[in-house]
This record gives sequence, structure tokens and C-alpha cells, in this order.
Amino acid sequence: MQFRAAVLGAPGEALTIETITAAPLQPGEVLVRIGAAGLCHTDLEVIEGQLVYPMPIVLGHEAAGTIAAVGDAVDPRRIGERVVLSWNPHCGHCFYCERGQPILCETYTALGPRAVAFDGTTRLSLRGAPVRTMFYMAAFAEYAIVTAPCAVPIPAEMPLDRACLLGCGGLTGVGAATRIAQIGFGDTVMVIGCGAVGLAALQGARLAGAERIVAVDLDDAKLAIARSVGATEVVNARRDDPVAAVRAITAGRGADCVLEAAGNEAGFRLSAEACRPGGRIVWLGKVGVGQDVAFRWGSLMGEKQITRASYGGAQAARDLPLLARAYLDGKLQLDPLVTRRIRLEDINQGFDDLRAGRAIRSVIVFDAAI
Ligand SMILES: NC(=O)c1ccc[n+]([C@@H]2O[C@H](COP(=O)([O-])OP(=O)(O)OC[C@H]3O[C@@H](n4cnc5c(N)ncnc54)[C@H](O)[C@@H]3O)[C@@H](O)[C@H]2O)c1
Ligand SMILES: [Zn+2]
Ligand SMILES: [Zn+2]
Repeated sequence: MQFRAAVLGAPGEALTIETITAAPLQPGEVLVRIGAAGLCHTDLEVIEGQLVYPMPIVLGHEAAGTIAAVGDAVDPRRIGERVVLSWNPHCGHCFYCERGQPILCETYTALGPRAVAFDGTTRLSLRGAPVRTMFYMAAFAEYAIVTAPCAVPIPAEMPLDRACLLGCGGLTGVGAATRIAQIGFGDTVMVIGCGAVGLAALQGARLAGAERIVAVDLDDAKLAIARSVGATEVVNARRDDPVAAVRAITAGRGADCVLEAAGNEAGFRLSAEACRPGGRIVWLGKVGVGQDVAFRWGSLMGEKQITRASYGGAQAARDLPLLARAYLDGKLQLDPLVTRRIRLEDINQGFDDLRAGRAIRSVIVFDAAI
């Protein structure tokens, strides 16, 4: 079949809208008509060459849609289901899957850098040449082919242009706070970086029982949104010292838990400085894998527990429906995270906005969302 997709030909180039060809579904796969897809910072890292993938490639890994067709061995009654997509297919039986760490699945980590489908093949092509698939999904397209368990059903009343955010930023942030950070009732939590990941982490901290939540960013508009979704204190690190701010409300100790979602050296360093002795630090952001990050050694001492978490410890099939339900019940706010709804043709402008900090999420809305 053929459909439109945004294709990245080389790092640093603009994405171009092309009509690409997809090979037929394999057993165990589903075809999803994409309703909406969010522009995540990780996509931007591929565009900027910080995350290296073979090209040409279709990016996009934060999406929701409707199942349009199923391969053999998938229940045909799933056609028409409203789904959020997970970017973590896993084999279910390797060393790491057996130990409950699907994000480390040996097949997933081996094939991921090649940007192919989960059976190792390239599915997409443009004028006869192969096109790669980011994160087993390639969601900046009218359709995506994923393994059936990665299309997770959500309630039919969940709007797709907000459901898509759950697929990366939502699950990463809320999952980190609720599944990894061991936040306790009454804790003081600092969240560094108030993009979609940080704002989800902040709300996860609230759901986990945090009492004080200190949001840190460099942008007052983002801090205003942080306050509206549950931050009790906000600090603009351009003007004020976040370490002093959190110490002021914790008798000088520092935060019980720090969730980092800024993705740069300053954010990582601050996370260690702001954490109290014996506290927990969860890093969600990332810099280039070859880049060094320096810490003041003393900031790492004092029995601090430091975890780097991908995808918030997600069990997508368990967690995505829970998050959708939290949204529908008014416990998880996603509306303020959607800064702009755009068309596929506007994708380069969307990434310019993300780069410049003018958007939390730009969400591509396809006709299928209506
Ligand atoms: N762990 C995962 O599974 C996972 C998933 C998605 C994204 N990420 C990473 O998480 C990070 C955030 O992603 P996003 O999509 O929310 O990005 P984003 O660009 O929308 O948000 C980052 C925010 O951090 C703020 N910031 C930058 N430097 C800061 C500093 N020194 N102090 C305080 N705030 C600062 C920015 O103003 C911005 O609001 C990125 O590094 C991204 O690659 C990780
Ligand atoms: Zn992402
Ligand atoms: Zn596995």
C-alpha cells in the first residue's frame, strides 16, 4: 500500500512529504491509521544528528490511531480499535524480558539502531529504495505498521490528539514518577525541565502522593503551565537558584526525589545538587551517548540513588489504559501540553518551535482523528 509520510533524508535537512510504499503485513502485525502524532525531543535529536540512525528514515514515535487491518494470527475483531502505540516491542523470552525489563529486550536493543521492523526487515520504501522506521513505528505518516501488542487499546471516548501524548512523553514522565522514583506520601519532589516529559513527571509525582513539587525551567510560560498542572513552587533557573529554593522548604536538606527531564548537562548537574542525602534521582533526559557529563563529586555522595530510566519503567499494555483513564477522570491533564495542532505538511515548523522552546508539544492531526 502507499501513503504519505514525512521523510528525513539526512541529519540537518528539512523533512519532505513523500508518498511511500509499505510491504504487506506480516503475521502478528497490525496496520494503524494514525490519528495524531506528537513531536518529541527525541525526534529532534535524530534530525540534529545527536542520535544516529540510518537514513532515509520516517521519524515519529508518539502516536495514537485506529487499527485498520490485521496480519495473520491477530484477532480480526481488533479492526476499528482505538489505540495508543508503544515504541517498546519485546520478545518476551530473552534474558531481560524474563526479568521484567522489556526496555532491555535483546531483540529490541539489537535491532533498534538499525531502524527496522521487529522481524529485522525494512518495510517502507521510496521509489524502490528502503526507508527506515524509527522506534519500530514511523508515526509521522498516515499509517504505521507495528506488532499487535504495541497497539494498546484505549477507551473509545479518548481523543486521539491527546491520547498520542501518552505514547512517549506521558508514559515516560508519569511512569518514572509512579513506577521508578518511589515517591512517598508527603515527599518534596523537584522536576527539572517542563516540556511534555517533565510536565507528565510532575503530574505523576502528584499522583504518587508528593506534597511539594518544585518545577524548574528556563521559560516562564512553561513554568506557568507547570503551576497549572500541580507544581507548588516554580523556579526560573535563569533568575533564581533552584537548589536554594528547594532547601528553603526542606529545612536545608534538599528534595526527597529529583526527576530530571531537561536533557542537558546543567539539568543533570542540578539534579544531583538538589537531591537530599539518601534521596532519589531519576534521569529521563539524555545527551549524545559519546558526550561526557561532569559532576561535583560531593553532589553524588550521601547515599543518593541514581537511576536512568527509559520509557518510565513502562509495561505499555498495563499503563497506557491506566493513563487514558486518568485523563478521562480529570486526574492527568494533557490539554495544556498540546501547544499547537498542525498538519503533516507543517512538520518542519513544528520542529523549529520545539527547538526554540515555543511549544510543549506540536501535535500532527491527520484526517483520521476526526
Ligand atoms: N527517557 C525516555 O524514555 C525519554 C522519552 C522521551 C524524551 N526523553 C528525553 O527527555 C528530555 C525532555 O524531552 P521533552 O520532549 O519534554 O523536551 P522539551 O525540549 O520539550 O523540554 C525540555 C525542557 O527543559 C527545559 N530546560 C532546558 N535546560 C534546562 C535547564 N538547564 N534547567 C531547567 N530546564 C531546562 C526547556 O526549557 C524545556 O522546557 C529530552 O532529553 C528527551 O530526549 C526521554
Ligand atoms: Zn519521545
Ligand atoms: Zn526480549
